[in-house]
Amino acid sequence: MPGIVVVGTQWGDEGKGKVIDLLSDDMHMVVRFHGGNNAGHTIVYDGETLKLHLVPSGILYPHIVPVIGNGVIVNPAVLIHEMENLTKIGVEVDRLRISYNAHIILPSHEALDGLMEEGRGAGSLGTTRRGIGPTYADKASRVGLRMQDMLDTLAFREKVRGAVEEKNRVMTCVYGADPLDAGEVAEAYRGYAERLRPLLADTSLLAKRALGEGKNVLFEGAQGLMLDLDHGTYPYVTSSNTVAGAVCAGAGVGPRDIDEIIGVTKAYVTRVGAGPFPTEQDNEIGEAMQEAGQEFGTTTGRKRRCGWFDLVILRYAARLNTLTSLVITKLDVLSQFEALKVCVAYRKGEETLEEFPSLCGDFSDCEPVYEEMPGWKSDISGAVRLEDLPVEARDYLQFIQERVGVPIKLVSVGPERQQSIFMDGGGEPLRQGRFLFYDDLPL
Ligand code: GDP
Ligand code: IMO
Ligand code: MG
Repeated sequence: MPGIVVVGTQWGDEGKGKVIDLLSDDMHMVVRFHGGNNAGHTIVYDGETLKLHLVPSGILYPHIVPVIGNGVIVNPAVLIHEMENLTKIGVEVDRLRISYNAHIILPSHEALDGLMEEGRGAGSLGTTRRGIGPTYADKASRVGLRMQDMLDTLAFREKVRGAVEEKNRVMTCVYGADPLDAGEVAEAYRGYAERLRPLLADTSLLAKRALGEGKNVLFEGAQGLMLDLDHGTYPYVTSSNTVAGAVCAGAGVGPRDIDEIIGVTKAYVTRVGAGPFPTEQDNEIGEAMQEAGQEFGTTTGRKRRCGWFDLVILRYAARLNTLTSLVITKLDVLSQFEALKVCVAYRKGEETLEEFPSLCGDFSDCEPVYEEMPGWKSDISGAVRLEDLPVEARDYLQFIQERVGVPIKLVSVGPERQQSIFMDGGGEPLRQGRFLFYDDLPL
């Protein structure tokens, strides 16, 4: 013990990568537990930018055991490419451990993801086209390939070939598309297996042993609550559960192995892809957020849609994840506005809704109810203590904390590690140890 979970509370891209990198100094192991290379986690250190899609965000610390858990789906080509890039910058990647039970993304899954999106026409979901939906569908249908299939070289090759041929029939007959060369794919995957085989492990056991020895294990969430397959804005969601509870199934630990659940939330809201977004500002305000926040998808490069902060979804995230603390990121992006709006409830017809609507159709029809707050109009990107923030910025944070009822323990004011305010009142930045389990907040 302890087990610490970090999850996104919005539609992804909340800055989880930065937060996990910061906390990793105090961790022994960082475990990804769901999703695939649809995720894009950015770490900025000493002016360098590192974008990770599959490798856990703790990788830059040599003492960390980075783990890809069984709930993750792995595109071996992407993973190996990422490992090679890390090797080039001097990061030792052979300490990475990958679950025997993680499922494998094939080029046929990616192709099918694209064909299905095109088939939906104007109703497309805006997926990342990384094969996420089709791979999780195969997992649920019990026809997927797993990392442990790589152990038997010849059988694996034949399984890959068979899986691609099966999807070829769907692609040609249903979508009228060209088939993939199943033999070529099988040969490429034989090569990937050679590279990845030594890294395979019983990662559930590794995590359990570390926890048993009293070491800190961080479980790294991808995406965010509103993209959760069950609890998000279905069908405009991803194909895995993003809630903290998914750690148990996706990493092979039990609910009692989890001690802290940290929800990462942007000081405003963004969304990539299609689907409802009540506080969206499809206007110059949204454009100003997009510009100042450099809101481009880390995986696909698409412009992120932007809007005002939404307390209804944060309260929903606090409830479903049982959050023990909050991290607020990108507060600096709001410095440009005279006044800020915060959505405190939704209005649907005559009704005012305080809770996230039970029916997805209702969510699409909701109008936000805003409270307005004064902005601070000054540069806060150099703030390292709470006292360095203008009173309006502190009031904004306090408003969020009070309305959600979960303590804010870290505020981020820029992409660099140093641009972080640990809310322990001590004023010393980068003391992660004090961040965890500190309850008496100065706000
Ligand atoms: P993730 O998917 O949750 O890990 O987030 P992404 O990495 O996809 O997107 C967050 C982006 O915001 C990255 O480019 C980060 O470098 C950047 N970022 C993180 N925290 C801050 C912050 O406090 N201020 C600013 N301006 N950028 C930040
Ligand atoms: P991180 O971990 C933001 C979105 C896609 C699309 C929907 C379904 O960086 O926060 P998928 O390819 O998963 O089937 O696409 O989910 N999406 C993300 N949006 N951040 C992510 O991950 C995302 N992963 C998937 O844009 O709307
Ligand atoms: Mg991202």
